[in-house]
Amino acid sequence: MKLSRCNNIADLRKRAKSKLPAPMFHYIDGGADDEWSMRRNTQAFDDYQLLPNHLNNIDRIDLSTPVLGATLDLPFFLAPTGMSRLFHHDKELAACRAADTFGTLYGLSTMATTSLEQVAAHTPGPKMFQIYILKDRELTREFVVRCKDAGYQALCLTVDTPLAGNRERDLINGMTMPPKITPRNLFSYGTSFAWLFHLLLDRDFRLANVAHRVDALNKGAMGLVEYVNGQFDRTVTWDDAAWLAEQWGGPFVIKGLQSPEDAKRAVEIGASAVMISNHGGRQLEGAPAPVDCIRPIREAVGDQLELIVDGGIRRGTHIIKALALGADACSIGRPYLYGLAAGGQPGVERALHLLKTELERSMALLGVNSIADLNTESVLHRLAHASYHR
Ligand code: GLV
Repeated sequence: MKLSRCNNIADLRKRAKSKLPAPMFHYIDGGADDEWSMRRNTQAFDDYQLLPNHLNNIDRIDLSTPVLGATLDLPFFLAPTGMSRLFHHDKELAACRAADTFGTLYGLSTMATTSLEQVAAHTPGPKMFQIYILKDRELTREFVVRCKDAGYQALCLTVDTPLAGNRERDLINGMTMPPKITPRNLFSYGTSFAWLFHLLLDRDFRLANVAHRVDALNKGAMGLVEYVNGQFDRTVTWDDAAWLAEQWGGPFVIKGLQSPEDAKRAVEIGASAVMISNHGGRQLEGAPAPVDCIRPIREAVGDQLELIVDGGIRRGTHIIKALALGADACSIGRPYLYGLAAGGQPGVERALHLLKTELERSMALLGVNSIADLNTESVLHRLAHASYHR
């Protein structure tokens, strides 16, 4: 299926599957344990309905959205995701250039295969760097300085990964970083000829931001779980998060919160935003769908935090529902990675184009012409259907 024939994110996923070796595809596509949380992330959107109000002059739909001190042309942006080189040889630059083309923000992961300076040098648009508080605190401190020097808009601390979730698909498919072709998994590399060709041309799978301090990956391919568990610090507390927020001194996001109590703590330590996320269902199996956490968190923190919802978004209407329930913006991970694997920068652009046009069309049909006007008037919980009570 050609990129231009991909009519939705599900089509991009199919194209990504046909292009990628199985270990890489399932690394994007899979979640933790039985993948209940991962499936629920998308399914939970079905519990909400959109209630149109008509005759509202919807000639011009304004998608611009203020978030993290920037004004984006879209109410969604690219979530930080690791190791783009696994999915396409143009790696992170393909994704951040696509974000720029659409006037939205790019989230760069600590686990990226392109350095934060290189990303900054290639795109003028707003960028957020995702950080962990690692055992190596010097490295964490170093990132703060480098992000300031490179002009990053926001810093985003991931808190739901003190250790790796149980990704069984990675075990089944022999997913390692860097990828290693063995007699056992040879078959799973199948007919991904273009991917294999680029593997021969460019074998640089280094984690470009950490490689100078962490040589574990240079010693040979290792399981990701092993790697993550070796580097991540399980002793991190809110005091460390407060320390990091202070070091940074700019828009500070905490990623991976789901409870109203944690959101209140985020306010206390001076965060400006939280990403309500369960890491795409890749960490704690059984964690609730992010869309279901929006209203309780909004009620707990009022306007003291910007809320970014991440997880399960596959349609423009999902973004509308999240915003109507009280989110300020959304972020997407797998949808753009399917695009990246399906066709590099044009593939990511296809994903952004599809979600943008779905969003515009559905807002017009809903009778709402700006993001600021999306509110709980537009959304009904399924159980409240009969009486239209919210
Ligand atoms: C990394 O954050 C992953 O989810 O694989």
